[in-house]
Amino acid sequence: MNTSTHFETTYEMFLHTYPGFQSTQSLDMLRSREFARLDDGNHIYLDYTGGGLYALSQLQAHHDLLTNAVLGNPHSSNPTSQATTHLVEQTRQYILRFFNAAPEEYVVIFTQNASMALKLVGEAYPFEADDHYLLTFDNHNSVNGIREFAREHGATTAYIPVVLPDMRVDEVELLDSLEQTRPGGHHLFAYPAQSNFSGVQHPLEWIALAQSRGWDVMLDAAAFVATNRLDLGLWHPDFVPLSFYKMFGYPTGVGCLLARREALAKLRRPWFAGGTITVASVQGDRYYLAEGEAAFEDGTLNYLNIPAVEIGLRYLEAVGPETIHERVHCLTGWLLESLSALRHRNGKPLVRIYGAINTKCRGGTVTMNFYRANGSVIDHRMIEQQANQANISLRTGCFCNPGGGEIALGLSAGELAACFRQTSQQDRFTVDDFRLCIDGKSSGAVRVSFGLVSNFADVYRFIQFVQGLLDQ
Ligand SMILES: Cc1ncc(COP(=O)(O)O)c(C=O)c1O
Repeated sequence: MNTSTHFETTYEMFLHTYPGFQSTQSLDMLRSREFARLDDGNHIYLDYTGGGLYALSQLQAHHDLLTNAVLGNPHSSNPTSQATTHLVEQTRQYILRFFNAAPEEYVVIFTQNASMALKLVGEAYPFEADDHYLLTFDNHNSVNGIREFAREHGATTAYIPVVLPDMRVDEVELLDSLEQTRPGGHHLFAYPAQSNFSGVQHPLEWIALAQSRGWDVMLDAAAFVATNRLDLGLWHPDFVPLSFYKMFGYPTGVGCLLARREALAKLRRPWFAGGTITVASVQGDRYYLAEGEAAFEDGTLNYLNIPAVEIGLRYLEAVGPETIHERVHCLTGWLLESLSALRHRNGKPLVRIYGAINTKCRGGTVTMNFYRANGSVIDHRMIEQQANQANISLRTGCFCNPGGGEIALGLSAGELAACFRQTSQQDRFTVDDFRLCIDGKSSGAVRVSFGLVSNFADVYRFIQFVQGLLDQ
């Protein structure tokens, strides 16, 4: 069978297995119109969880806006400042609308990215001795890092493991941990709506479950919202950090914290800055924080880029989050099935996938390692090098999610403690030191992820690439 016939036949089989894909064909047209640079450059882009891609019309709309407006620093009341304030506030309102968040319940705090939104909460959460910070193993490092604020204030940090092979949480253990609160204390529970390691979607039902037991809930939505609708009229997490470039590629440098007003009122900022106060005095040695979101936006906002967020959200809304979700669902299902079927001549599997191997409650992020016919692992760095040569953009390592990695790769607490004890210099430990220390085990994995304009050819060509590793 020649190459194009093989592609056509495989595509037919795919459509037969995933008939829902047909309803997403508008995205193929969109790709050729707005994202032609992908195919012109022969790119296979498989890192949407790393960063989304922007459409040409988003750039054009933003360019037109900047071309025609005169925009000054919003911390004033002159005409150009007012014009900026109007655009920033309009974007804020649109973000609330996009997430169906009631303005009486939620505020939007602009940040640089999801990490800064997380830090805002971490540094201001009123942790005290006997309080708790509870989080899943499966979390981004910017969520893990909050444990340092908790520790500084004497609060206890506890992790709930995820369990192989699906990398989901044992709910009995979760419930048990959620019961461990002291009345009147402050307790923060953090988890990702979708794992950036395994693609697993953790239940949104945990939000109300935890809140009813006295917890404030931080739902990390950074990896979820690009391909799933988050309805804050239905779910009511206290804090939701996200980065907009992950949703629609442009602009970078803008994220937000969606915060419930009630939960926000509990936070105690450790400092004040330009823009966050009503009055501050040098000689009087006093300051008064502003109300609501203003108290959390330090200095001048990224005011020229913020209007591009509304453009991006409107773009996403017009394309339809449900259509994107369906497409990603179909492509992920096909990829999971195809990878699971690949065997060396001796019958040994080529691929080990970490996390759910069906599309139930999972998103379009798939993480794996590759094994030779003799069972030894192929170093993920080698896979990346070969993928680079095929112009495939994928991600390798642990994706800033060490807990997910430790579970997936079978690294025990004892092994890790022994490694860290070995470090001669207390503060320096490179990735290579780490690799040496866990000698024989893989220190990372390979991740591919789908998004807005992923198509069947992307998956097909990735599978062809992977087949090239068989009996190598
Ligand atoms: C689940 C999750 N949380 C948080 C982040 C941090 O996002 P940023 O690097 O934009 O701050 C990421 C980034 O990959 C992520 O996937």
